[in-house]
Amino acid sequence: MANEYGPWGIVAGGSDGVGVAFARAMASRGINVVLVARRVPVLEAAAEEIRARHGVKVRTVALDLSVPGAVSRLADATSDVEVGLFVYNAGSDDRSESFLAKDLETHLALVHRNCTSVLEAAHVFGGAMVARGRGGMVLVTSGAAWVGGPTLATYGATKAFELILAESLWAEWRGSGVDVLALVLGRTDTPSLRRVLDAAGGSYGELADPDDVAREALDHLADGPTWICGSDQPTGGSPFGALGRRDAVLALSQALSTGTEGNIQH
Ligand SMILES: NC(=O)c1ccc[n+]([C@@H]2O[C@H](COP(=O)([O-])OP(=O)(O)OC[C@H]3O[C@@H](n4cnc5c(N)ncnc54)[C@H](OP(=O)(O)O)[C@@H]3O)[C@@H](O)[C@H]2O)c1
Repeated sequence: MANEYGPWGIVAGGSDGVGVAFARAMASRGINVVLVARRVPVLEAAAEEIRARHGVKVRTVALDLSVPGAVSRLADATSDVEVGLFVYNAGSDDRSESFLAKDLETHLALVHRNCTSVLEAAHVFGGAMVARGRGGMVLVTSGAAWVGGPTLATYGATKAFELILAESLWAEWRGSGVDVLALVLGRTDTPSLRRVLDAAGGSYGELADPDDVAREALDHLADGPTWICGSDQPTGGSPFGALGRRDAVLALSQALSTGTEGNIQH
């Protein structure tokens, strides 16, 4: 994989959940990894474990992707290595509340992390890959990108942004040697999802395994533009089929009120 894409990979949001699973999977395929996250102890523990288990080089960059300048700092911290793979993973919303229950700053921080920094990373790191003629970029999105629903306003809108951005870059960069994948996840067993479900007092239900998700995504890096993890039709369209948008929004609203949205977000 290092021969095909390049010797280093970055996982933005790489210290727990799906992100650290990506880092482990990339390391197991011989790629040196840069892990980005905010909490230094969690970040360093993940780095140590990957170094010990896979013998690759691991670099940590502690920063907050929801503040301006984060991607420039990441570019500075990695300017001496060839970054051939970029996984933009950080993106969950672990406060499942209505739009007006959250203050404006919370919404804007989510938009910065899930839209502005993603766009900057695609421009800076993806641009270098296109110039080199090889590379891969994965933007991790969600079933929440398909259609709107209560408590999903800003989160779902940012996930739709990532979905369309990745699909558009795939369309522009195909033939350039750079693979782009919009990776659509359903409910996956991560600390972030557990925080949401614990706060809601609901049961966990059926959850995907982050290691399976990361393995499946790397196996299908070249099968873009879109890969729906765990689906019977992973390259297929909306799980709402031919439903009109109004009926789809109502169906998601109903499913969210009964805790069965996991069934349709796949
Ligand atoms: N889990 C699910 O059920 C599910 C379902 C659909 C889609 N997804 C998508 O899958 C991706 C991963 O989700 P996840 O559940 O693993 O949780 P996540 O919160 O998106 O990712 C956790 C990782 O991101 C880091 N992180 C979070 N905010 C950050 C920030 N502002 N700056 C830098 N690093 C940050 C965390 O470390 P620190 O907290 O230390 O910064 C940790 O390493 C997301 O894009 C999410 O939308 C998840």
